Amino acid sequence: MSVINLEGIYTAYEGGEKAVIRDLSLHVDRGEYVVIGGPNSAGKTTLLESINGLIKITHGRATVCGLDVSFQADEVRKRVGYVIQNFYFDPFTPFTVEQVVMMGRYGRLGLMKRPTKDDYHAVKKAIHLVGIEDLARKTIGTCSGGQQQKAMIAHNIAKEPEVMMLDEPFSNLDFSAREYLQGVFKELVRTGVPILMVAHAFDGLPDIPIHLVVMNRGKIAHDLNCTAGEVECIIRKECGALDKC
Ligand SMILES: Nc1ncnc2c1ncn2[C@@H]1O[C@H](COP(=O)(O)OP(=O)(O)OP(=O)(O)O)[C@@H](O)[C@H]1O
Ligand SMILES: [Mg+2]
Repeated sequence: MSVINLEGIYTAYEGGEKAVIRDLSLHVDRGEYVVIGGPNSAGKTTLLESINGLIKITHGRATVCGLDVSFQADEVRKRVGYVIQNFYFDPFTPFTVEQVVMMGRYGRLGLMKRPTKDDYHAVKKAIHLVGIEDLARKTIGTCSGGQQQKAMIAHNIAKEPEVMMLDEPFSNLDFSAREYLQGVFKELVRTGVPILMVAHAFDGLPDIPIHLVVMNRGKIAHDLNCTAGEVECIIRKECGALDKC
């Protein structure tokens, strides 16, 4: 069984009359690097929220890591890393980057439990992997946008998820940070963790097989396998064609 199985799902936002995602099926296996592209408002973020149980699935069935998303969303969220598209930290947020990364362990830890040696080790490793040792003691609200994005990536790596979803994680990052982090994600994929990455820019994709999903108007317009070098060309062509639909 695939890690993610979506079978003809429909999802609608609370109070929304129309389904945003319509009759969508998708299967993702261990070790797959999935790039999700498509025009603005196509439903890319909504798709990630559906997988994570953050939005109600009105029809169809979704399972993640063998769990039914409609009935076991809390458990699904413990196993899925999710770097969200837009986040904002108040400048006076009192937590350090290190503490924010430790919060990635809370799903495993449980409430009111003290972090163990393993938790501290996972946090240290994630901070090292993302290369933000110099930020560890800085409060998150005083970090720049790109530094906050790196902290949120480290938070989700420390979680040691079974699936990693990232929604435009590079929007604030410079070229060398993007290239470096793509290497980190490539390594994650090599260990079997599937990655679902929503993106509008495709430079620096790792040189591994890509499972490309192009969305439009709440549906998957294309679901194919390609090389990293082909992604941009296919999306340009498809988005151009879709715009003219
Ligand atoms: N919280 C919400 N409540 C109601 N409708 C929403 C909500 N969030 C998104 N939508 C609607 O769902 C549709 C898909 O939005 P979504 O954010 O998934 O698009 P996207 O493909 O991620 O776009 P972008 O590239 O701009 O991030 C849009 O029409 C949007 O207006
Ligand atoms: Mg989005």
